[in-house]
Amino acid sequence: MKYPRKLSAGANNTVIVLSDTEVGKLFVGDTRSDIGSEAEKMQFANSVNTLVAKFIRLEFNENIEAEMLVMERIHPIDYRAYEVEIRELWLDVFEDELSALHHAGFVHRDLKRPSNIGGLAFDNILLTQSGLRLIDVGISALKTQVGEKIFEKYIEAENKQITEFGDYFLNR
Ligand SMILES: Nc1ncnc2c1ncn2[C@@H]1O[C@H](COP(=O)(O)OP(=O)(O)O)[C@@H](O)[C@H]1O
Ligand SMILES: [Mg+2]
Repeated sequence: MKYPRKLSAGANNTVIVLSDTEVGKLFVGDTRSDIGSEAEKMQFANSVNTLVAKFIRLEFNENIEAEMLVMERIHPIDYRAYEVEIRELWLDVFEDELSALHHAGFVHRDLKRPSNIGGLAFDNILLTQSGLRLIDVGISALKTQVGEKIFEKYIEAENKQITEFGDYFLNR
């Protein structure tokens, strides 16, 4: 389906432009049931720090008949817009913020796409003029929901992906 003002489509969802400051992530068909949980996980992360894009509201878009998660619009730039010394500083901040989310009981789980899915490997990590931001908490997990044991497994996997991302980010 072709949506007006489509910005980008990830592995599952299409995201459309609402204004210079807002985008809407569309939930249609199979993914519809996840919208409430995604909103909740976003709000949890937002309550810890500003790493994850800010949740704004849930809305039903009458024109395209789709449920929509409205959030802060991030304007990404290419990693190569900045020299490595600056990227190193941003990577430090990113790691600190992600670690704060982990300590609070939130794990993102989708920093890197599985290699069998097309597209960019780290397309949920966006670089802006003021550092790195995270989007797409679709498969994120809260410790209160999955329990200590599973949460720890997820953290272990995430820490490996953070290392891989650092390598990619600094060497691009
Ligand atoms: N807050 C945002 N600001 C700007 N672009 C976004 C935002 N959220 C998502 N996008 C764009 O839309 C794409 C798909 O969104 P995402 O939440 O990653 O969905 P999927 O679950 O399909 O991967 C992203 O890869 C990104 O290009
Ligand atoms: Mg994505």
